Order: sequence, then C-alpha cells, then structure tokens
Amino acid sequence: MNETTIQTAQPSNVKRDASDASASKDASASKDAGKYFRYMAEFVGFTSYDEQAIVKSKPIVEKHLPQIVSDFYEHLLRYPPTRKFFLKKDGTIDEAYLELRMRHNANFWLRTVEGNYDDGYASYIDYVGRAHTSHGADPSIYIAERYVIGMVGFISHAMSHAIIAELHEKDEAFEHDVVEAWDKLMMVVLEMLSRAYYNERSPETFDPLVAVDEKHIAELAQEAVEQETGKRETSAVKLVTIARADEIPDGERKLVNVDGISIGIFHHNGNWYALRNSCLHRGGPVCTGTLAGDVLQCPWHGFQYDVRDGHLLTDPKSHLDSFHVSVENGEVKLEMPQF
Ligand code: HEM
Repeated sequence: MNETTIQTAQPSNVKRDASDASASKDASASKDAGKYFRYMAEFVGFTSYDEQAIVKSKPIVEKHLPQIVSDFYEHLLRYPPTRKFFLKKDGTIDEAYLELRMRHNANFWLRTVEGNYDDGYASYIDYVGRAHTSHGADPSIYIAERYVIGMVGFISHAMSHAIIAELHEKDEAFEHDVVEAWDKLMMVVLEMLSRAYYNERSPETFDPLVAVDEKHIAELAQEAVEQETGKRETSAVKLVTIARADEIPDGERKLVNVDGISIGIFHHNGNWYALRNSCLHRGGPVCTGTLAGDVLQCPWHGFQYDVRDGHLLTDPKSHLDSFHVSVENGEVKLEMPQF
C-alpha cells in the first residue's frame, strides 16, 4: 500500500488551468436548456404518455445496456478520429479512461430512462453536449458533430432492437408505443447535443478502420454498467489498516493505494470518509483538491463533490466510488470490496 498524507486545508494557490474558466462559463450557458428541451419535445410530439412508455422500458434498457455500451465504444474504437480520445500516449487503449467514459455513458441512459425531463435533466444534456465541444470543461476535447449525430442514430437503433427483442412476442401494441417514444425522445436528445456546436465544423480525414478486441470491450462495458446500476455488489470485503487514527487529525486526509486503486481518506468534522481519487470528469486527482466546508473540488477542472458521500454537486446521481471506513482500537480501517 502506498500512502501520502496531505493537509485538507490546501492553500488557495492550487494550480487552476484555463479550462476552469470554461467550467464556470458552462454553468451559465444552460439557462434556457429546459425551455428549449420542452419546445423541441412539443415540436416532435413527445407527450407525457411517451414519457411513461420510456419509464416502463427501464427493465429492458437495463438488461441490454452492457451490450449497447459495448457496441457503442467498439464502434468508436474502430474509427481513428474517435478512437484517438481513448488512447494512451503509447497508442494503446487507456482502459481506465475507457471504463470511466463507459460509466458516464451508461449513467446518461440510466438517467434518461428515469423520465422526469425537468430543467435539471435538460441542463445535464446541455452540459453533455458542450463536453464534446470547445465550450466544455476541457476545451482541448473536440469531437466533430458528425460523430455525435452518428452515435445518437446508433443508440436509437440499438434501443429499438432491444425493445423489439423483448416485446414483439409479448405485447405488440406496447412495443410500438415504446419504440415510438424512444424515437421521439432521441430526436430531442440529438438536437440538444447538436446545438452545443453552434456553427463549428471540421473537415473529415477518411482514415482506414482499426481492428478491436470485441470480447474485451464487452467485458469492460459489463463491468461499467454493473457499477452504475449498483449491481456489481459483493459481500466479500477486505479490511485494510490505513493508519493510526492519531496520524490523521481532524481536518486532514491521507492518500492510499490499495489493490492499485488510489483512495483519499478524509477525517472531516469528526467523521471519516473514503473516496476514490479519480474525478468523474477526466480521472483527475480529485482527493488532492481543496475542501471548503463539505465541498471537495478537483484541481484539474473544478468539478465539485460532497466529501460526505462523493456525489457530484451538479448531478447528485453521479458520484465518486466511496468506501466504508471505521476506527477500531485507534486504527483506521478501510473496507475494500473483493470481486
Ligand atoms: C449518443 C451520443 C453521445 C452521448 C449520449 C455521450 C455521452 C457523454 C457523456 C454523458 C459524457 C460525460 C460528460 C461528463 O460528465 O464529463 C461524455 C463525455 C465524453 N464523450 Fe460522449 N457521448 C456521445 C457521443 C460521443 C462520441 C461520438 C464521442 C467520440 C469520441 C464521445 C467521446 C466523449 C469524450 C472524449 C468525453 C469526455 C469529455 C470531457 O472530458 O470533457 N462521445 N459523453
């Protein structure tokens, strides 16, 4: 186990890069997202009946999501202009980053199938749209609009296939309603993601396709979706002694590495918390960020989390992995799930 102890009250000169400025630009850019979402929903004829049909399709979507996510990233990994976002400097696939992206993508569909398309949901899509453009938190990531459009179509078809596979023999009328509801909703999603591009266009390079290890990508997608749906549970845990409690006074934290996973242990206002040191945004060292009150801020792009349970302030459904910590006989113990 590798470890580092750092002060919770970090100096305010934590390095902030230029993209922090766009993180705040982000927050204000979505003011009309709800209004626009409702306008488009009405235009394509998406009704509350459609919303109910989507919500009822949740078991189908959950069942097929590992396959859908796997197919989605396999596809992106075949095309050099989309593949390049998932590669390490040596040209091999960055699996940790790929799995992070898979989790965010799964989370997007899991949130979408919940219904309740309120301002919060519209702002979330608006934010996801900008994440692919130079207006996102990381302006260096720019995914040409054509690929986002293509993948919305890809998902649209994948959803139809899943619904038909599950309902065709059982309830054709409902099958029709659910397919139609998803079809309409995807048109709204498409426009919400597309409008983030404003007038930006970039030329295509027409590179040859790349071969992909499909089985391995499918395993990663299965793992990512199980993590997002909370299905990746195990009763097996390993108790790891992190430190003596008096080595981490209240207000301080310690970074440890257990089984190759970097974890921040926080002694905060008399309580103990353990969070995975990997920001949901780009996998940044979030546990080394500033802690103001209960808000932990990633030093890379300013993403903010509640240190008490790791949830992302802008989207409480998204959260850092958290672990149970206890103090026994003056020793800080961390419970690591064993899969
Ligand atoms: C159906 C279309 C798509 C959906 C619904 C979608 C969904 C998402 C979501 C939910 C995020 C997370 C935003 C965040 O929390 O930081 C994201 C970011 C990202 N997506 Fe997509 N995506 C789509 C298409 C694509 C395509 C075609 C690519 C091509 C490579 C791509 C690559 C990325 C990358 C690299 C990020 C990280 C952006 C950042 O770090 O700022 N996505 N996407």
